[in-house]
Amino acid sequence: MADPVIQAIQGLFFFIPAFAANSAAVLTGGRWKMDFGKNFFDGRRILGDGKTWSGYLGGSLLASALGMLLYGLIFLLPVFVNYPDAYFALFGVLLLSFGSLTGDTLGSFIKRRIGIDRGGKGYLLDQIPFVLMALLFAALFYFQFFRYVLFNIPALIVIVVITPPLHKAVNVLGYKLNRKDVPW
Ligand code: CTP
Ligand code: MG
Repeated sequence: MADPVIQAIQGLFFFIPAFAANSAAVLTGGRWKMDFGKNFFDGRRILGDGKTWSGYLGGSLLASALGMLLYGLIFLLPVFVNYPDAYFALFGVLLLSFGSLTGDTLGSFIKRRIGIDRGGKGYLLDQIPFVLMALLFAALFYFQFFRYVLFNIPALIVIVVITPPLHKAVNVLGYKLNRKDVPW
């Protein structure tokens, strides 16, 4: 598995749950504000109306289901690494999905603190925190998984470089399909 191209493609593939969680939250979101509508000390919303529990939980679980399906395919038709078992896949996808939406929430918290309103363009704050937090969750809570599929230079570079344009493309699509009010 030393081939850097394989490592990069494999890393991107295993990282799909983290990408998918962000988009899935748009589908399930809208109910039960995560900050219960409350303001922070600075008088601005803690997170804003764009962060809901239905988005956080629904998005994480939907992305985990999709991830299990994809990882299952790889397990049955081993094109990449032949990982150990279903627990590996299950905890891996859960950590990437929940990590992704936890990072997304942190990104919104920071946006509110620097005065960007809900839905306002956050540039890298819309794209980087979810990626880093997904990687961090995997590395912290399941290092064996992280090391196996993500912890190599080609995979990490490709994930961080491909994420912003991919995220942007998905958001433009969501906007065109009237699922989102703004194209970012
Ligand atoms: N969403 C949600 N709950 C989440 C994340 C997302 O309900 N935890 C839904 C919301 O409907 C949100 C949409 O997905 O409007 C798009 O997500 P995102 O772009 O992250 O939110 P924004 O509305 O842009 O808000 P923010 O400025 O806080 O990022
Ligand atoms: Mg947004």
